[in-house]
Amino acid sequence: MPAFTATAPGKIILFGEHAVVYGRPAIAAPVEQVRARAVVNAEPRQPAGHMRILAPDIHLDAALEELPDEHPLAKVVLEVMAELDVSHLPACTLRVTSNIPVASGLGSGAAVSVAVIRALAAFLGSSLPKERVSALVYEVEKIHHGTPSGIDNTVITYDMPVYFVRGQAMQTLRLAAPFTIVIGDTGVKSPTALAVGEVRRGWEADPQRYEGIFDAIAEISRQARMSIEDGTPEILGALMNDNHAFLQQIGVSSLELDRLVDAARRAGALGAKLSGGGRGGNMIALAEADTAQVVAQALLVGGAQRTIVTQVA
Ligand code: MEV
Repeated sequence: MPAFTATAPGKIILFGEHAVVYGRPAIAAPVEQVRARAVVNAEPRQPAGHMRILAPDIHLDAALEELPDEHPLAKVVLEVMAELDVSHLPACTLRVTSNIPVASGLGSGAAVSVAVIRALAAFLGSSLPKERVSALVYEVEKIHHGTPSGIDNTVITYDMPVYFVRGQAMQTLRLAAPFTIVIGDTGVKSPTALAVGEVRRGWEADPQRYEGIFDAIAEISRQARMSIEDGTPEILGALMNDNHAFLQQIGVSSLELDRLVDAARRAGALGAKLSGGGRGGNMIALAEADTAQVVAQALLVGGAQRTIVTQVA
């Protein structure tokens, strides 16, 4: 019996996180060096309808019916079944693995969902269009935090750099030239839901101030798009620095993130900022191709748990 396998990349937010939840544009790109993987195998000796779910990274070994419907892995399986109008699964095992660090802003939840949807759909003899995959992942993302913008499911499903506005069709970016990003992991776990919830409380307490900051971030994302499409990375670096300053103002940076952002800039990065929900997780730095390793080394010395050098292309 063949195994049905699918993988999906991690992601970084280049510009506009948090503001994107409030309708402002943001820019994200896939990170191919880290991936989630799902494999579905038929188990002809098991009774029909039985699905065993194995996720060794989170020490999970359970039958589908043992998991609550709101468990992200159960939810994603049930979403696929509903989408394909399958009421009874052929007996099978779903195995999920990932080397995308969890709760660190790299989109591990969305990547797992994309991989599971594609592997399970293939096992069931179907292939879903990208809009449907992305829409199903969005439903699962709501478990991780109630008000996702939709940027994570979009960039990971389409596996290309995107310019994204909530509720609108995804727009692709025409890169003038590829550019190099160094990612530094603070090692501090920070679920997106918590950071998004804190920003929401701040916004409720002082909507005028937050709306002003979101507008400023929106302008940064628009200028960044032009700079990416014109091939002017010096401007992009400065825009990253400005974006980080606004994220500090809404309270989603942290000592660890600021330390790594400073270390990257001192080591010659063109600009640096936190990426994703913040309060921990990962930061990114824009570097010339030949200084990327120097920046990565400086991040490790500055306390990063690990670094990834990736190309946005
Ligand atoms: C998470 O990758 C980005 C946030 O803006 C949340 C969201 O867009 O749903 C923090």
